[in-house]
Amino acid sequence: MNKAKSPVIIAIDGPAVSGKGTLAKALADALGFACLDTGATYRVAARMVLESGGDPADERAAVVAAQEAAGAMEIDWLHDPAIRTEAVSRATSKISVFPGVRDALTAWQRRFAADPPGGAPGVVLDGRDIGTVVCPRADFKFYVTASPEIRARRLIQKLQLPADEVTYDAVLADLRERDARDSTRESAPLRAAEDAILVDTSGLSADGVLGVVLAHIRQRRPDLCR
Ligand code: DC
Repeated sequence: MNKAKSPVIIAIDGPAVSGKGTLAKALADALGFACLDTGATYRVAARMVLESGGDPADERAAVVAAQEAAGAMEIDWLHDPAIRTEAVSRATSKISVFPGVRDALTAWQRRFAADPPGGAPGVVLDGRDIGTVVCPRADFKFYVTASPEIRARRLIQKLQLPADEVTYDAVLADLRERDARDSTRESAPLRAAEDAILVDTSGLSADGVLGVVLAHIRQRRPDLCR
C-alpha cells in the first residue's frame, strides 16, 4: 500500500508579543502549509468556561471545558474575535496551568498536526510548548524572542495605547510578569527546546524574520522552498 507521507511539522515557540504569530502565518503562506495558533485553542476553552458561568480558577470546570473544546473544536472558533477579549485572556492564563487542560488541548493539537486541513503537506504550530511537549519530534523548531522593552513598544502600538512613559512602564511590568508566569509554571513551562534555533526579532522587520527562518529551512530542506 502507498502510505501518504506524514506532514512536515514546524514548531515556533516564544513569549507573548515576540512576533511568533506573525512569523507562523507568513511562513505557512510561503510554504503552502496549514497554520495553528495553539494559544487560540486555550482561548476557546477559557471562553467556554466563562460562558457556562464557571470559574476559570476551578480546575474541574477548566478541564471539562478543555475536553469539550477538544471534542468538538471547529476551525472557525479559533478565529472568532470573541476569544481575544481581555476577560478571555485573563481566564486563559488561569486555565492553561492545569495539566488536564493541557493534556486535552495537546491531544487536539497533535491530531491537527498529523492531519492538517485541506491535506496540506505541512503545518506550522506556534505556542509556548510546541517544540518541547506537543511535537518534540518536529522537523524544525524555532524559538523566537525579542527584548521585553521592544515587545512592550510593539504591544503599545498594536493595542493603540497612549505613547507615554506611564503606559510604557505598566506594559513592560505586565510583560515581565507574564514571562515569569509562563516560564515558571510547573506544567509545560515556556522554554526553548534544546534543539531549537533561536531567532531574536528585536532588530528585524517581519519580512526580515521570515527571511532568516526560510534561510534555515532552505539549507536543510530546499525541496520545501520552491
Ligand atoms: O499566545 P496567546 O496570548 O494567544 O496565548 C494565550 C494563553 O495561552 C497564554 O496565557 C499562554 C497560553 N498558552 C499556553 O499555555 N500554551 C500554548 N501552547 C499556547 C498558549
